[in-house]
Amino acid sequence: MAFPDIRMRRLRKSESIRRLVRETTVTVDDLVYPLFVRKGKGLKEPIESMADCFHFSPDTIVAEAQEVAKLGIHAVLLFGLPDKKDKLGSEAWAEDGAVQTAIRQIKKNVPELVVITDVCLCAYTDTGHCGVIKDCSVDNDATCELLAKVALSHAQAGVDIVAPSDMMDGRVKAIREALEANNFKDVAIMSYSAKFASAFYGPFRDAAESAPDASTGLADRKTYQMDHADARQALAEIALDIEEGADIVMVKPALSYLDIIYHARLRFDCPIAAYNVSGEYMMVHDAASAGHVEKDAAMMEILTSIKRAGADIIITYFAKQAAKKLKR
Ligand code: PBG
Repeated sequence: MAFPDIRMRRLRKSESIRRLVRETTVTVDDLVYPLFVRKGKGLKEPIESMADCFHFSPDTIVAEAQEVAKLGIHAVLLFGLPDKKDKLGSEAWAEDGAVQTAIRQIKKNVPELVVITDVCLCAYTDTGHCGVIKDCSVDNDATCELLAKVALSHAQAGVDIVAPSDMMDGRVKAIREALEANNFKDVAIMSYSAKFASAFYGPFRDAAESAPDASTGLADRKTYQMDHADARQALAEIALDIEEGADIVMVKPALSYLDIIYHARLRFDCPIAAYNVSGEYMMVHDAASAGHVEKDAAMMEILTSIKRAGADIIITYFAKQAAKKLKR
């Protein structure tokens, strides 16, 4: 059968028909909202590099978490900033660290909200690298031990899901073993499995004060994060993380990597998350400010494309804005 028996436009005739046949729908259930927390009291400081994002302190983050929950969003992803950075990034596993305190506060006041924490050292090390530097390289196995300590400290504070974002080999296994050994069997791992060395993390590194220091001999993260040209390797990374005990796997960034999400969806059955990162967020913001695109429309088109590619979970700075739009 062909034209005129088939006229594809029949099913595009009205908004109602289009909705009736629509294949992909983003819902508020899909969204995770990232939040930044640092020590202190009463803080809500705008982050210069990321529009409508703030540095909170563990007390003020509660009101924000309540607002997020009220919008119907089920989960937040916490990033911490330390008071002091050092060689090992030791504030990352401090019992009274900003993230640990924020977890306790949120779980106490908004218990239904799923709390996910980024597990990494880059904001905590004085080198800005995601691990410990040894001989001009990030020491993989030593870093895994520290990451397990970080994850454990989050578990002790009451986190629901830990999300290692460092790209060391074997870190999921190290974290799973530490959690099991300490009876945190129900703390899940959402692994940043296929995380690419990307130009789109720029605004975040200003927000998390985590840009790598070139004087270490490593000016970027290319020795641990993936080369952006590699798709088969991304699937190998995901397979390994699942084998090591990841409950949810992630592809990051999302937009330039929709093919990776799609291939992962075909191959793996566990939930897949995609991170719509800071640079992707700010590109839309700036293009909208310049009058080149309509912000809400561009946002929804992008979020839908990530879902259509196969993501179950979308981590995005647009989460609140999208939730408000989806409620209407
Ligand atoms: C930490 C981490 C980064 C992001 C999330 N976790 C930065 C990086 O790897 O340099 C980026 C998030 C974003 O850009 O929104 N390793």
